[in-house]
Amino acid sequence: MSHSWADQKGFFMSRHYQIATVFGGTGFVGRQVVRELALRGVIVKVATRVPERANYLRPCGAVGQIVPFICRYGDAESVAHAVKGSDFVINCVGILFERGKSSTFQKAHVEVPARIAQACAVEGVERFVHVSSLSCDKAQSKYAKSKLEGEKAVLANFPRATILRPSVIFGPDDHFFKMFAELSRYVPCLPLIGGGHTQLQPVYVGDVADAVMACLFTPRVREKHNPEGKIYELGGPEVLTFRQVYEKLFTYTERKRMLVSVPWGMAKVQASFLSLLPSPLLTCDQVETLKSDNVVSPGAYGFETLGLQPKSLDLILPGYLEGYRPGGKLAGSAYKT
Ligand SMILES: NC(=O)c1ccc[n+]([C@@H]2O[C@H](COP(=O)([O-])OP(=O)(O)OC[C@H]3O[C@@H](n4cnc5c(N)ncnc54)[C@H](OP(=O)(O)O)[C@@H]3O)[C@@H](O)[C@H]2O)c1
Repeated sequence: MSHSWADQKGFFMSRHYQIATVFGGTGFVGRQVVRELALRGVIVKVATRVPERANYLRPCGAVGQIVPFICRYGDAESVAHAVKGSDFVINCVGILFERGKSSTFQKAHVEVPARIAQACAVEGVERFVHVSSLSCDKAQSKYAKSKLEGEKAVLANFPRATILRPSVIFGPDDHFFKMFAELSRYVPCLPLIGGGHTQLQPVYVGDVADAVMACLFTPRVREKHNPEGKIYELGGPEVLTFRQVYEKLFTYTERKRMLVSVPWGMAKVQASFLSLLPSPLLTCDQVETLKSDNVVSPGAYGFETLGLQPKSLDLILPGYLEGYRPGGKLAGSAYKT
């Protein structure tokens, strides 16, 4: 087959690599998404408020493949600049608690996603994946309500967007298991908020990143089940009560702690003091979130629809919780001779 010079010129001039912008790419979920995109040869713009925060991600790709990109989220032009030229956009921006006037649920979970979705529409991006939160349509907390409003704002501005709603996410450097593992090193008892009956369906961060990739790339998904405009609920293979979650933690940290049932009202009183800390362990709004189960709804699209099988806690937890054993990682029974 012969190619004329014009054909060849056209080939070299047309871009044959893909570009993605990951908002919140420096975070727990975002960095996993950045790594997976880099493995697939995609050029990744890591949109962040502080570009230095993204520097440690550069070695995930070849020289120049991972590009920290400053973004002023309050400025639509800055957001559009971060999106410009990208085939894929993924939004992993989120906060667990509010701080001052600049870091509110309304801004981070509603206004920022709306601005990103608007930019995606104007710039004609191919795929936009927005990370939301499981049970945001059921829980009555300010966090959940803002997440639901954010989803609506995304779909209003970019109806082809795919929304992922993960349950509580675990994995090395998570915000959940590591916090309780750290706490269990110093305190003799841990709180069972509302009696510890709330059900959770913890999901591995690598599986959430795989779900993002499936929504962007897998041809099977595109052919048999187009993810555009759909909402996926992402839960791991096990549904556990809060009490059972603690029991898993105790198994892998080899630290048994007393569990103290704390009624909802009392938990809110405690949370109101804890929320004064610079990085609160618990807020009143989180207590409110815990009143609703965090499990995948029957019939919802999820991992199965995407052709994925999520990993269990028992497979992943030992890998990063063994460092919390009394005496440290090498003191556990597995290393005794
Ligand atoms: N972790 C979980 O268990 C879990 C469960 C369900 C849903 N989710 C959702 O998953 C997404 C990612 O969560 P994550 O655990 O990766 O969060 P994370 O580790 O806290 O990272 C969030 C990122 O958002 C950016 N960010 C933080 N505050 C911001 C603000 N006020 N304005 C703009 N950007 C801000 C930060 O990037 P820069 O500082 O670099 O700008 C940060 O890297 C969020 O939407 C979260 O709600 C998480």
